[in-house]
Amino acid sequence: MCPDSSEIKGLKRKDLLGILELEREEIELILSTAVSFKEILERPIKVVPYLRGKTVAFLFFEPSTRTLNSFSLAARRLSCDSVSVSASSSSVLKGETLLDTAKNLEAMKLNFVVVRHSSPGASHILAKNLTSSVVNAGDGCREHPTQALLDLLTIKEHFGKFDELKVVIVGDIEHSRVARSNIWGMTKLGMDVSICGPPTLIPRDIDKMGVRVYYNLKEAIKGKDIIYVLRIQKERQAAGLFPSTREYIKLYSITEEVLEKYAKKKVVIMHPGPVNRGVELAPSVADGMRSLILPQVTNGVAVRMACFYLLPGGTGEGRGMGQL
Ligand code: CP
Repeated sequence: MCPDSSEIKGLKRKDLLGILELEREEIELILSTAVSFKEILERPIKVVPYLRGKTVAFLFFEPSTRTLNSFSLAARRLSCDSVSVSASSSSVLKGETLLDTAKNLEAMKLNFVVVRHSSPGASHILAKNLTSSVVNAGDGCREHPTQALLDLLTIKEHFGKFDELKVVIVGDIEHSRVARSNIWGMTKLGMDVSICGPPTLIPRDIDKMGVRVYYNLKEAIKGKDIIYVLRIQKERQAAGLFPSTREYIKLYSITEEVLEKYAKKKVVIMHPGPVNRGVELAPSVADGMRSLILPQVTNGVAVRMACFYLLPGGTGEGRGMGQL
């Protein structure tokens, strides 16, 4: 079923900047709306006119495969026009600031700005200065809210619940916006969240986020329903934050052998992508029966459709055209 706009009230905010500030009810509203949109994505013609006449600008100043294309497809499925700006092909190269770039695009009559940037808080600056709804598509090490939302949808689909589920997030927690957004979202929804990684990649005050900390992978994965594996950001190795890739693989790589020995039989594996095959995750696990990696990607389109649909889109008009 398509969402019925007479029933759905939308989000309480202009922008989607992080999971930290979302209330549990808002997360649940996005997820239930995304479930309705998944039905549209199964149709032969996957397009509905809810956002006809509206426009989104994609401002991606860091590389992206999944997030950019999934936002782009989400907009197209909702009949929303789009324009795209990247650092390498825009006037940013001539010294224009992010805010000036966004304001100039908004002068062309936008409804949404989706931004990915290496600076934490970049989306907040745009949100304060634009009337368009701003969506954070990843800001430095801070948050990646739509990634967490698509992860939560994938978990709900697989397990049918959140309460009492035990998850361990493994890898570079310190530099991971995905970890932060997921910790906020999972704990808000009643999941039991642990983290595991080398001490140099665990933030000092992480226990304040309500998680259990492990440094030993074998202990960490015992009894968990979900192992959420993070990409090892190779650029951190140069900073001396872990001794070598070979040692990381020995201590923290998720392999068939580790799973057979220490994990629950029904454990599932999640990863936000891109995967470093053979580093944080063995190829056979990434492609195996336990992996939810591609369902996560599929759910990204529906979740991002739900976000566009539920945000006011700069005009204060709210959503589109009701049930078709
Ligand atoms: N998960 C994620 O953000 O992937 P991309 O960097 O490819 O967008």
